[in-house]
Amino acid sequence: MKRDAVTLTDHRTGKSYDIDLADGAIPAIQLRQVKVSEDDFGLMTYDPAFQNTAACKSRITFIDGDKGILRYRGYPIEDLAEYSNFLEVSYLLVEEELPSKAQLEEWKREITSHTEVPEAIGKLCAAFPRDAHPMGILVSLLAALATAYPDARTVTCANSRRLQIMRLLGKVPVIGAYALRQITGQPIVEPDKNLSYTGNFLKMAFATGGAGHGRETFTPNPVLERALDTLFVLHADHEQNCSTSAMRNIGSSQADPFASMAGAAAALWGPLHGGANEAVLRMLGEIGSKDRIPEFIERVKAGETRLMGFGHRVYKNYDPRAKIIKQLADEVFDIQGVNPLLEIALELERIALSDDYFVTRKLYPNVDFYSGLIYQSMGFPVDFFPVLFAIGRAPGWLAQWNELMGDGEQKIARPRQLYLGEGVRGYDARG
Ligand code: SDX
Repeated sequence: MKRDAVTLTDHRTGKSYDIDLADGAIPAIQLRQVKVSEDDFGLMTYDPAFQNTAACKSRITFIDGDKGILRYRGYPIEDLAEYSNFLEVSYLLVEEELPSKAQLEEWKREITSHTEVPEAIGKLCAAFPRDAHPMGILVSLLAALATAYPDARTVTCANSRRLQIMRLLGKVPVIGAYALRQITGQPIVEPDKNLSYTGNFLKMAFATGGAGHGRETFTPNPVLERALDTLFVLHADHEQNCSTSAMRNIGSSQADPFASMAGAAAALWGPLHGGANEAVLRMLGEIGSKDRIPEFIERVKAGETRLMGFGHRVYKNYDPRAKIIKQLADEVFDIQGVNPLLEIALELERIALSDDYFVTRKLYPNVDFYSGLIYQSMGFPVDFFPVLFAIGRAPGWLAQWNELMGDGEQKIARPRQLYLGEGVRGYDARG
């Protein structure tokens, strides 16, 4: 039987090394044996942006970028989007299996019992100016929550980790809604335990008037509630993306999950990552009309700008989530009216999918290309879109963090470097 190994020949010394593969990969630490002399540190790999480096072993999410496949715990994203819901998917990601009816009811009860937010956090939110970016508020409130729960630092205890997961799943939509109310100058709306997870978020986001002025009668439109819940499902996890890697890196130092999630949200905010949904809407607005698309495409090809919402590090095919979101858009627009920017988006996609520049680089619409059109039609401000991404991604960040903390092979994340700087220099040599 063929050995599951590779042989590396070092032409500097003529030596050969047999390296056993582990789960189909080269254990990078094995390269340290490849030396020119005994005091040599040994070989490292050089992989900027980790384009071909597995930093962990995981059983949560599987992506086949060439085939456009995405599965959470083995379930195709298409089935979860059609038949499941966000709370059930959050259970699947964290607890590894789909819940029974009773387990799901207990999961909702537990999460709902953690929707209360300490008064100090509300005061901190109210201190932000109206024009504060809501992601800056979310990152701050997540970090501030770490001060309210010192027991969250017992990260090596599985029971404590589960309590923090419940707390964060309960509080993230609440502090997300706090941020929205702050930037729109509206009073906070308390969570409503009688609504679904997503229905409650919509009420906290959009209920109008002060206490007693019809706020209690707010009921989310069921089509919009279902559409947003499905969007949360589609955003729930995505293996080792930039923000999840940040969650794992910070968590690997045994920082608590509130601080780790603040870092993950900060990473998500970038326009190359979760901030792309906001960048897409600004791009569509700047293009302004279909007849200005050719001019914009030329600017992209000249390297002056990027087609936001297109391209992906892993998907070299159509992002399966983008396909589903495009269908969801039709359902939302039936209720809210067609977003006028849709025709520009559709024409951009049509051109990009036939233009050599994009085809040769395998640039397809990703999860962020159409989602913003829906969020805007639902009434969310453009700069709030990454907060919606964060609310959807919270169970994925937590499931990945929990898996890391239970992985005996993991240690504090501490990459090396290739040093190309100065050799030793005498201080007094400056003359
Ligand atoms: C998300 O990782 C995840 O899983 C992320 C995510 C998740 O669920 O967590 O899926 C969510 O972040 C989706 C991506 C959202 N970002 C955007 O839509 C921003 C626009 N896209 C890009 O900037 C880019 O495509 C990335 C960041 C998504 C991926 O970048 P890579 O893999 O580092 O690719 P690259 O920058 O090396 O580009 C390869 C080539 C380059 O051209 P050449 O130098 O070879 O000539 O493709 C070009 C790039 O210039 N290119 C683009 C482009 N994306 C890549 N050219 C124009 N427009 C683009 N959008």
